[in-house]
Amino acid sequence: MDGAPRVGFRVSGLTEIVIRTTIVVMTTNNSARRVLLIGASRGLGLALAQEWLRGGWQVVGTVRGAAATPLHELADGHGADIEIETVDVTVPEQIAALRERLAGRTFDLLFVNAGVTNEPEGTVAEASTEEFVRVMVTNALSPLRVIEALADLVTPTGTIGVMSSGQGSVANNETGGHEVYRGSKAALNTFVRSYAARHREDARTLVLMAPAGCAPRWAGRAPG
Ligand SMILES: NC(=O)c1ccc[n+]([C@@H]2O[C@H](COP(=O)([O-])OP(=O)(O)OC[C@H]3O[C@@H](n4cnc5c(N)ncnc54)[C@H](OP(=O)(O)O)[C@@H]3O)[C@@H](O)[C@H]2O)c1
Repeated sequence: MDGAPRVGFRVSGLTEIVIRTTIVVMTTNNSARRVLLIGASRGLGLALAQEWLRGGWQVVGTVRGAAATPLHELADGHGADIEIETVDVTVPEQIAALRERLAGRTFDLLFVNAGVTNEPEGTVAEASTEEFVRVMVTNALSPLRVIEALADLVTPTGTIGVMSSGQGSVANNETGGHEVYRGSKAALNTFVRSYAARHREDARTLVLMAPAGCAPRWAGRAPG
């Protein structure tokens, strides 16, 4: 360990966050800081990009494919402070290609926001194998592939963040429902915990966070 102050606490009763005081820098001392935001086309990712731009950060945000997205609209008003990159996190070759394109760049923060919910809603046993695999690969496997591939772009005192969900809580699951999604975020939490355990000597901050349920698109279907 580098001796940096550490705080461990829980969000929504489950999501364990291992955080050092550098996270304060993330929100207060943000001049000319650089963030690589994976999954920024819309929703919470777009809102995060907007907030970081407002705070003076330089943002590289990713979308899937070539279609115009709300992130492109946001970028129109912000000149060189925002760049748009492309990656589908479920395609390892695209992650590798993104890493290649970003060679030589450094970021104070890598934040993996990309995620999906399962459709249609139902119990885990009712889900098709295809849908189960889609959600688990996107939400649980892919963020770790992204982190493993891109972590070396993060500065030695930087931060790696991942968007989890309160729905990933095992202890708080008293109703069932949203079961494939819940399982994917519970798996994500475990995989990030494993990553943290394997990188105990890494001075960088690792954040696994659960937002409050806040996207209108998901209202009534998959609250966080
Ligand atoms: N909304 C909530 O209340 C809530 C609560 C707890 C946790 N969360 C988590 O917060 C994150 C964002 O949620 P949201 O509500 O903003 O969802 P959203 O509006 O559906 O946005 C999801 C984002 O992830 C991207 N994405 C999905 N699959 C991807 C892939 N294979 N490769 C690259 N990008 C991909 C989407 O890109 P496209 O535009 O290309 O689809 C989009 O930018 C998710 O991880 C979600 O689980 C949300």
